Amino acid sequence: MNGPVPVEVLRQHLIDPEICIRCNTCEETCPVDAITHDENNYVVRADACNGCMACISPCPTGAIDNWRDVLRAEAYPIEDQFTWDELPVQDDALAGQGVIGESAEAVGKGSGNGSGNSGSHGSSSHGAAGTDAAGPVIGGSDLVRGSIVPPWSAAKPYVNLYTHKAPVQAIVVGNYRVTDASTQSDIHHIVLDFGKHPFPVLEGQSIGIIPPGTTADGRPHHARQYSVASPRDGERPGYNNLALTVKRVTSDHQGHAVGGVCSNYLCDLKKGDVVNVMGPFGSTFLMPNHADSHLLMICTGTGAAPMRAMTEYRRRRRLKGATGKLMLFFGARTQGELPYFGPLLNLPKDFIDTNLAFSRTPGQPKRYVQDAMRERAADVAALLRHEHTYIYVCGLKGMEDGVLQALQSIAGEAGLDWPALWQRLKTEGRLHLETY
Ligand code: A2P
Repeated sequence: MNGPVPVEVLRQHLIDPEICIRCNTCEETCPVDAITHDENNYVVRADACNGCMACISPCPTGAIDNWRDVLRAEAYPIEDQFTWDELPVQDDALAGQGVIGESAEAVGKGSGNGSGNSGSHGSSSHGAAGTDAAGPVIGGSDLVRGSIVPPWSAAKPYVNLYTHKAPVQAIVVGNYRVTDASTQSDIHHIVLDFGKHPFPVLEGQSIGIIPPGTTADGRPHHARQYSVASPRDGERPGYNNLALTVKRVTSDHQGHAVGGVCSNYLCDLKKGDVVNVMGPFGSTFLMPNHADSHLLMICTGTGAAPMRAMTEYRRRRRLKGATGKLMLFFGARTQGELPYFGPLLNLPKDFIDTNLAFSRTPGQPKRYVQDAMRERAADVAALLRHEHTYIYVCGLKGMEDGVLQALQSIAGEAGLDWPALWQRLKTEGRLHLETY
């Protein structure tokens, strides 16, 4: 009577430590708290992950999209995953037999092929497929507050051309401060030249910088991610270079003094120094390419980087007939701490509608970007009504709630159905959030 005991094979979700840039996006996105990290690696709890795929598309590198078929009883514990420098090889005897998590049947087969990551291009399709499976996937996409697909007209990005093991070397050709020297915010504009190495990037993409040296326990530093601040055709048009906007980190979120490893390395670079670069990353936070699309950009501090890239691209394209509107809300502590203040104000008023919000101007009330948005409610609502409007939010984590609330109240007062509009913006690749 006793039949053979079924051996349960799990398709275990893993994160590739060689590609992961430790941006925390997956941990924030996971609706069931299956993802955690230590100072070394981001890892997935096998007993908690239900394979909902909510984390797949937001990952800028594709490191998240890795799977190994293992005996359920022998699934890799997170304690092992924390120590990995690379993923374990797939046991051939189990390959192809795994089912995902506990709700494998509801979800269907995962995207992973069990043999490596599929990169961000693969990830994008999960975004589009946010509705392609019952239950968990839909739940996951509802929990993601912004788009996980790019604008329909965005150019096709290249991702992961260079890795931690095989980075590309760039030469520093410029490094200067873009905040007032009298302020504490030491923000630098750094220009890297790739010489003869191809390094195609689009506005909104990011790159990884690998700081030299090792951590206290002797491991190489992992890469840090920075948004590109220049347009696709180069910081200087026609050159194979790009710009970054980097704030020197001197304290942690609690205000304790710490020297940010990578930001201090970058801010101290001299012309001619060589930097190891990974990437590019990102396949959703991209700008639309159709000329009559409008950009509503909301940022704080170094979150200005992708907005600068998109604005400059539009400025260059304007000469070639781009007609869409640009509206910018930009927050900083004071005028002197707002990066690129001078150049920003030099942009023609009929090209970009710029609204600044300062929170610590002596003698003035605290003002955030969301306050400035409410003051311009009629114009923001006009953009919200337009089906060619694309919204970008980049900067402090805390602003995300405030900005979404402002959009909700502006939409409501204008008679727009915000829940329906929000959903449409997300699924049409028209609401992009990047906060940290
Ligand atoms: P605050 O004066 O309250 O820190 P930072 O210089 O730290 O990068 O911050 C950039 C700007 O973002 C500052 O003006 C800061 O104001 C502001 N800010 C802080 N929290 C929020 C929030 N929840 N929403 C919008 N802006 C914020």
